[in-house]
Amino acid sequence: MSKFSHVPQPAKDPVMHSCVLFAQDNNPNKVNLGVGAYKDENGKPWILPSVRKAEETISSDLAKYSKEYPPQAGYPLFLKTCQELLFGEEHIAIQEKRIATCQSLSGSGSLHVGLCFFKENYSEHDFYYPSITWANHHLIHEKVYKDIPFCEYTYLYEDGKLAIDFQGMKRDFVNARDGSVFLLHACAHNPTGIDLTKQQWVEVKDIFKAKKHVAFFDLAYQGFATGSFEEDGYSVRMFAEEGVEMVVAQSFAKNFGLYGERVGACHIVHSDRHNSQLSANLQGVMCTIIRKTWSMSPVHGAYIIQTIGQDPELKKQYFEDVKTMSSRIKKMRQMLYDELVRIGTPGDWTPIKTCIGMFTFTGLTPAQVEYIKVKFSVYLLVQGGRMSMCGLTEKNVAYVANAMKQTVENVK
Ligand SMILES: Cc1ncc(COP(=O)(O)O)c(C=O)c1O
Repeated sequence: MSKFSHVPQPAKDPVMHSCVLFAQDNNPNKVNLGVGAYKDENGKPWILPSVRKAEETISSDLAKYSKEYPPQAGYPLFLKTCQELLFGEEHIAIQEKRIATCQSLSGSGSLHVGLCFFKENYSEHDFYYPSITWANHHLIHEKVYKDIPFCEYTYLYEDGKLAIDFQGMKRDFVNARDGSVFLLHACAHNPTGIDLTKQQWVEVKDIFKAKKHVAFFDLAYQGFATGSFEEDGYSVRMFAEEGVEMVVAQSFAKNFGLYGERVGACHIVHSDRHNSQLSANLQGVMCTIIRKTWSMSPVHGAYIIQTIGQDPELKKQYFEDVKTMSSRIKKMRQMLYDELVRIGTPGDWTPIKTCIGMFTFTGLTPAQVEYIKVKFSVYLLVQGGRMSMCGLTEKNVAYVANAMKQTVENVK
């Protein structure tokens, strides 16, 4: 008998499991709206033209783009590009040398590094997540913080209304102990697709300043939500300008289509102007965490990011590519909404039009999510009936709308 026979079957990850079931499904009309990965108008994965060009440059000059280990924090040009994309080239926090940056493993690795940083250096403070959030936040938190529980702050209304309960949220920020850490989705909240307005972000910033709270920004969708890095980076840029201290987990999975390359960065922004020694210390602490965890971050994705970021022509092309993705998603939102209304689907489907980013909370119940999967091979996530808009195409949108109509009519 194996020495490992006591090992139990692990709990299934809902997104991964849904992908497995989807792959096994023989229905030619099947549609995967569970996973958050962009697909083109034919439902196929899309390699951004700017990424293809960058890869040509990299593969034609392997003397420059070697496969050697990178510096522990990552290539300086990569780190510069990460900061410029995130904050904008002229940002005051860059000029005042208030940012420490380390390459990391996409958004998840950056969240992990950020959490380890808090655990090792700031653990006596309370840690808050939105009352509804990306499921992995809790998993990573449990891994790093072990038995230190996290708190929650209000996000949506509790009565099922698909809107932010802003009064409740502010109340929670105000009532929290001074100096608490709050995980904030910088834009394109996953899974709801509902974000704060700019005015609301300013109010939140004022509370954070007054209460000396620390922001832990999860930035997995910059550019992807509105098509503009500036718009989608608004919350982070404004908080940093105003001296709110923060950690930012930056992912290039969605906005560069580099899902499997696992490239991203973790930034710590402090409030001591021109204290580059502090920035160096903070970067060093992150390097130590990485050294103890995966040792070195991979180079290929980093080369792609820095090649695009430091070549004005490629960068221009890249911003066009981002617009292509976000516009296609917006178009699909409108098409699905129009079709649901045209065929008389019971319910209010406005959030499909008004939500932002990859996801929409459709409000379909777990029973309805099961029904639409079994009967129509349309895969959604159970949590809020979350739908990834990326899997919709002009060819399947009518099929999906009809499946949704049948579902809400047949499963109350
Ligand atoms: C809210 C949020 N944060 C972070 C991530 C991190 O993704 P990755 O580790 O692939 O960059 C995701 C991916 O789905 C996400 O939705």
